[in-house]
Amino acid sequence: MSDPFVPTKQDHFSFGLWTVGWGGKDLFGDPTRAALDPVEAVHQLARLGAWGVTFHDDDLFAFGSDHTSREAAIKRFRAALDETGMVVPMMTTNLFSHPVFKEGAFTANDRSVRRFALRKTMRNLDLAAELGATTFVMWGGREGAESDAAKDVRVALDRYKEAVDVLCEYVRDRHYGIRFALEPKPNEPRGDILLPSIGHALAFIYRLAYPDMVGLNPEVGHENMAGLNMVHGCAQALWAGKLFHIDLNGQHGPRFDQDLRFGSADLKGAFFLVDLLETAGYDGPRHFDFKPPRAEGTEGVWVSAAACMRNYLILREKARAFRADPEVQQAMVAAGWPSLATPTLGPGEAVADLLADRSAYEDFDPAAAGQREVNIEHLDQLALEHILGVR
Ligand code: GCO
Ligand code: MN
Ligand code: MN
Repeated sequence: MSDPFVPTKQDHFSFGLWTVGWGGKDLFGDPTRAALDPVEAVHQLARLGAWGVTFHDDDLFAFGSDHTSREAAIKRFRAALDETGMVVPMMTTNLFSHPVFKEGAFTANDRSVRRFALRKTMRNLDLAAELGATTFVMWGGREGAESDAAKDVRVALDRYKEAVDVLCEYVRDRHYGIRFALEPKPNEPRGDILLPSIGHALAFIYRLAYPDMVGLNPEVGHENMAGLNMVHGCAQALWAGKLFHIDLNGQHGPRFDQDLRFGSADLKGAFFLVDLLETAGYDGPRHFDFKPPRAEGTEGVWVSAAACMRNYLILREKARAFRADPEVQQAMVAAGWPSLATPTLGPGEAVADLLADRSAYEDFDPAAAGQREVNIEHLDQLALEHILGVR
């Protein structure tokens, strides 16, 4: 039998150049791996079955590159895309590495830094449009502070909104087919980052001038760092029509940002996330934002990248089997899944009708209802047994 977990382009798997390209430099140590040529990354990812590649401007050409070297880097990269049929579904701007952004980019107290950040992003939007990217991620890694004395957060949010509004106008003026996706993260590199969770970012979007153009790029690890449930967060983003993109990886709860390969931590969370994406109509890229551990050599990088896709496909298969299992279907009924879909008021029922319904209150027996079985443990155990491979 052929291996059912081999990815194809139809699976829409994509990777950031900065993921497989991470050399292992961390807060305490130097790189452990040699720099990876983006052209090599494109070829290797294509060979493994990926469909797309994403990047920050600075991943492809060094910060401050002159026109000639920038164009040369883009040309080589484009040739690799053409040779492999890889696409660039998403691009993003590095507004965090250079010291100029040490106190923020769009929300730096220094106005000239904010203007520079806008210009750097606009330039990168031109390239995104040229390469056919349809999503532009905004991860505000340096937008934040270590001290609450640093800035008035309300005013910083005014500046953040101003930046997103200006960039939306830029995209509209040029008729680029691009939407923005905000990526929440609670902390790291800043002590506290603005828009720390899916919920904060969603609320921010509705204060913008062009809310339809802006959605989310949630990352598994970032929600988990905040102790939040990625599945619930993504479900709410989907409910709001705002899940524009996703960063899949793994994280062992609240600690430093681990960016582990997808599926390697919180397996149950990964299972229910895949189940959600596959059943809730998410049609965006399955994008991996992971870091092959620093201890791995070059071989390990590709083992890790391949495993991200393989784990997604295994979990997709398991989620399908879970949904198709007759005992699971019965257990879902017993746990009240279909019942939740029935609106709480009847068709045409008004508030006055609810008030007049004695069975809803006067004759209702809360003590008896408090004793009912909810049957969720059984359903959850069935999910676990599917994950563990015994069903
Ligand atoms: C992180 C972030 C980043 C961003 C990426 C896009 O791990 O802190 O995920 O990797 O996603 O830089 O700007
Ligand atoms: Mn991360
Ligand atoms: Mn990310």
